[in-house]
Amino acid sequence: TNVGINPIGIAFYQGLWSYDGWNNLNYVTEELKRPEMAPEKHMLSLQREIGLLGAVSFIAGTMIGSGIFISPLYVLSAIGSPAASLIIWAGCGALALLGGLCYAELGTVIPESGGEYVYMLQTTGRVSAFVFVFSFVNVLRPASATGIALSVAEYVVAPFYTDCPPPQQLLKCVAAVSILAVALVNCASVRAATLIQVLCTAVKLLALSVIAGLYSYDGWNTLNLLTEELKYPEVNLPRAIIIAISLVTGLYLLVNVSYLTVMTPKELMMSNAVAVTWGNKVLGSWGWIMSVAAALSAFGSLNGTFFSGGRVCFVAAREGHMPDILSMAHVHRLTPSPALIFTTFVSLLVLIPGDFQSIVNYFSFTAWFFYAITMIGLLYLKIKRPDLPRPYKVPIVLPVTVLIAAVFLVLAPIIDSPQIEYLYVALFIFSGVIVYVPFIHYKMCPGLLTKLTQFLQLLLEVAPAEKNV
Ligand code: ARG
Repeated sequence: TNVGINPIGIAFYQGLWSYDGWNNLNYVTEELKRPEMAPEKHMLSLQREIGLLGAVSFIAGTMIGSGIFISPLYVLSAIGSPAASLIIWAGCGALALLGGLCYAELGTVIPESGGEYVYMLQTTGRVSAFVFVFSFVNVLRPASATGIALSVAEYVVAPFYTDCPPPQQLLKCVAAVSILAVALVNCASVRAATLIQVLCTAVKLLALSVIAGLYSYDGWNTLNLLTEELKYPEVNLPRAIIIAISLVTGLYLLVNVSYLTVMTPKELMMSNAVAVTWGNKVLGSWGWIMSVAAALSAFGSLNGTFFSGGRVCFVAAREGHMPDILSMAHVHRLTPSPALIFTTFVSLLVLIPGDFQSIVNYFSFTAWFFYAITMIGLLYLKIKRPDLPRPYKVPIVLPVTVLIAAVFLVLAPIIDSPQIEYLYVALFIFSGVIVYVPFIHYKMCPGLLTKLTQFLQLLLEVAPAEKNV
């Protein structure tokens, strides 16, 4: 059989969902711990609470969500052969790592939270940054949160519906409850959210290593690194990125090999949750453990998604690209609760019509479009601003390679099987410009929200927060 561009494209899309989150730490750069904390500062700001262990958990724990427990079968059915599917999984990992290395340079040259948003703000300009944040807060982040929440729900109810599919309403209610739970923890305390992230990451690493059967896997040595003494963010950011992405890639490959050893490709393609089928075959009556692990894994990924999503909204509001209230933090808890509440609200809205497969499809399309622009920004910095201090540097071929891959990922599905939905997504992305011109550029209706802002400030006990750089 000949494999055209389309199967490869589709297989990559399915695989890449499992790797998404590789850029998650760049959204929270300002919250990475520093060896000496300046205690004299009395202004309100988010605190630097994330050490290396937390940092690795924020990346690895967001990447490992529901994907690896489900999508191996989609990759395999798109591409046809087990060997080719392993190549796709390795290719996705390599792409995530290259992307991660480029983001390590970006994150150390521009040490502000907000990821793509601040990078675009300082390279490709305010309009592009706004267009990004408009899609990000309204669609990208809520869609990924919803997709993950739906898979949490799927695994939570699975044991109760062994011979019939669970009702949709029930799935959506459980998904809503998990979104609310994560939102509550995140509003309450940064430390608690980080702790949940670390614990869930530990559970999923354990579950995946049970499937992979290799406790002796070399990656474990890297865990020793995590207990090392406290380093500067310029050191820890690249380090966490490299450790987390390589760890996840190694595990994913082993997990895929293990699936294929236990199941024939046919069995794999028939199962609707590969990890659970694997559990039932190998662990027998303990098979349910895999469902619990998968639910916790997806829950951790949801937590990481929420944490970082709230920060982007918060940073954009600080720049005047979102309503002021979203740039405020709780005066005692020091969490960006308005931005988190807003993210919760939009996620619940997306949950009403949302379904998992279409979310995965259009998510990758939109995400890689913005990764491409971010790479252009990095190339711009490297060529036009070689003088900037660069604690961490990557060779220029890296961003060029990621850019080419991203352009391929965005164009392949459009050229190969043009679907009207891609046009809708593109139109939505660019509708950001239409919002930008009157509300941001011309500052129409400046006082519109003043009363509401004051009311919400009193209600939520929040005040404007300072940058942490
Ligand atoms: N990789 C995750 C999974 O396999 C999904 C991550 C969604 N993206 C994100 N940036 N949170 O379920």
